[in-house]
Amino acid sequence: MFKRLRGIRCKNSIQQDDNNLEKELMRQLDLSRLPAHVAIIMDGNGRWATKKGMPRSFGHRAGVKSLREVVKLCVELKLKHLTVYAFSTENWKRPREEINILMNLLVEYLYKEIDELCANNVRINPMGIISELPEHAREAVTMAVRKSENNTGLVFNVALNYGGRAELIKAAKEIGQKLVDGELTIDEINEQEIARHLYTAGQPDPDLLIRPSGDYRVSNFLLWQLAYTEFWLTDTMWPDFGRKELLQALLDYQRRERRFGGLLHN
Ligand code: FPP
Repeated sequence: MFKRLRGIRCKNSIQQDDNNLEKELMRQLDLSRLPAHVAIIMDGNGRWATKKGMPRSFGHRAGVKSLREVVKLCVELKLKHLTVYAFSTENWKRPREEINILMNLLVEYLYKEIDELCANNVRINPMGIISELPEHAREAVTMAVRKSENNTGLVFNVALNYGGRAELIKAAKEIGQKLVDGELTIDEINEQEIARHLYTAGQPDPDLLIRPSGDYRVSNFLLWQLAYTEFWLTDTMWPDFGRKELLQALLDYQRRERRFGGLLHN
């Protein structure tokens, strides 16, 4: 009994430390210099679960919890754009069972969260080849887009069946069609024209890319948009990523010197 009580006290004091640290991080954050656009590769669900002796699906479910927390904090901080990598064009190589679990989690997430997302003025913008998703996932995405389309707060880009290369192929095809139709000349193809044909059209490029789980890769994510993005990498697995980690990433971002290939002004 005593042992158990001691355990509980210990857990409570860790929670208290976490709350204090979060408060301190929040205090240090300069709310006038937040990134306009944060992108996240939600990686490490599988390894996190395996380490606990649990099936990978357990990690994906825990990953949804992290996502919920992160979206909530982005809303609180009034961030303008958040992009998350939920399913890549390469993720179809996974076992059918895992793909089904991911699609079911997406559907469950959208139906469960849409009212709260709308109450917080969040607009869902899917990125990727949605027509290739299973029917129930397509329906959930369509529902979420329709319900949130007039919201003016956080733009929440969810990359689903997304690949940076596939996105560039899409842009090249659409621009090619405009050339064929005589709506565009070759000289009019520039950065703005290409950006207009990406899923992020009209949005600023990400200022900050967060990749948890200790891997140092871009993994075919936002290949065009990441040209001058600041990277923040951590060994923390996505299911353990929460408010504290996002605040740490934002604070670190605020300490960076961004030169965009030019020289620093003083
Ligand atoms: C990478 O972890 C994560 C994914 C491929 C899927 C991310 C999905 C979620 C967080 C939940 C579902 C999404 C939504 C939008 C509700 P991994 O499986 O590659 O982990 P590993 O590298 O440790 O194997």
